[in-house]
Amino acid sequence: MSACDVNVIAVVGSGLIGRSWAMVFASGGYRVKIYDNQPGQSAKAVTEIRKQLDELEEAGLLRGALPASRQGALLSSHDDLAQALDAAFFIQECVFEQLEVKQSVFQDVERLVGQDVILSSSTSALVPSSVFAKMQNKSRCLVSHPVNPPYYVKLVELVPHPETATAVMDTTHTLMTKVGQVPVLFKKEIDGFAVNRVQAAIIAESWRLVQDDVISVKDIDLVMSEGLGMRYAFIGPMETMHLNAPEGLEDYMRRYGDGITRLLHSAGPVPEFRGDGAKKVTNEMYQLIPGDESHLSARKERRDRLLMHLARLKDDHQ
Ligand SMILES: NC(=O)c1ccc[n+]([C@@H]2O[C@H](COP(=O)([O-])OP(=O)(O)OC[C@H]3O[C@@H](n4cnc5c(N)ncnc54)[C@H](O)[C@@H]3O)[C@@H](O)[C@H]2O)c1
Ligand SMILES: *[C@@H]1O[C@H](CO)[C@@H](O)[C@H](O)[C@H]1NC(C)=O
Repeated sequence: MSACDVNVIAVVGSGLIGRSWAMVFASGGYRVKIYDNQPGQSAKAVTEIRKQLDELEEAGLLRGALPASRQGALLSSHDDLAQALDAAFFIQECVFEQLEVKQSVFQDVERLVGQDVILSSSTSALVPSSVFAKMQNKSRCLVSHPVNPPYYVKLVELVPHPETATAVMDTTHTLMTKVGQVPVLFKKEIDGFAVNRVQAAIIAESWRLVQDDVISVKDIDLVMSEGLGMRYAFIGPMETMHLNAPEGLEDYMRRYGDGITRLLHSAGPVPEFRGDGAKKVTNEMYQLIPGDESHLSARKERRDRLLMHLARLKDDHQ
């Protein structure tokens, strides 16, 4: 184990999210060492990322100050975990979303790195106290939860274990900011963090409105994409309220608070998301966009292209 270098980051797991993290860190000028336990997988990831960096540069959408060739040269692939972790000061884990897999990966990692190395998990749905339950030293462990695709959607939820050191949260916050992400700090862990909790509330109400035959799938999506979403790309729900009454948030709640309370009390139970009870909603969606690979991938490409442009717009107008 050699001394760690503040310019070197290791990414463990080279699937969708591992590759995105590697691109984000390389855009910030970091050397990124990629490991995957499937032999050849990390090498394939590096080849594909380099190709993608060239395409992004071609399209004028490359992040960071370095040209694509220099960013690509910062990446290396490793089939050996110890070799991948060597010299890294920060480890971003991106393996399968299975508790036992993550716990065992972190136990291996902990055996191989020094005490000052930060151990960060990409988990979407596991709280830090589960992911890191088997670690000896939990004070340098945290969750850094990205939003897909992280290259265009910059939010990162930084969630501490109850024992995580403040300095570890601060260093990670600084790192994420430096590579152009937008980190938010949690004061304590909670199931679903914030993105998935807020998203679940939106999903539930949208689902109920379709299921209760109030509105179609197509139109409830327009409520977000052409209505609420227009603001939310730039200002959140709190500032939206603050700006929507002459004297700000208190005034807003004097005027509209009772109405919001009434609507919340009238919200139905948690909907049935599967089985026969869900058929009405799912059938409508499949009629709009069939669930086969070609229809879905065309819509995903459109989504990513639009997100790229929105990311650009946000960079230009903060
Ligand atoms: N996909 C998303 O939208 C998204 C968003 C935010 C967070 N995440 C989280 O990121 C993590 C990775 O998700 P993904 O979508 O990239 O998954 P994925 O299946 O695309 O990639 C996982 C990779 O990890 C590798 N792997 C599995 N076990 C390993 C081990 N023991 N050691 C090393 N490598 C191993 C696999 O070979 C694979 O390449 C998950 O925890 C997921 O919840 C995903
Ligand atoms: C645990 O990790 C912290 C943060 O990196 C470090 O300062 C501390 O020395 C470690 N504790 C032990 C017992 O090694």
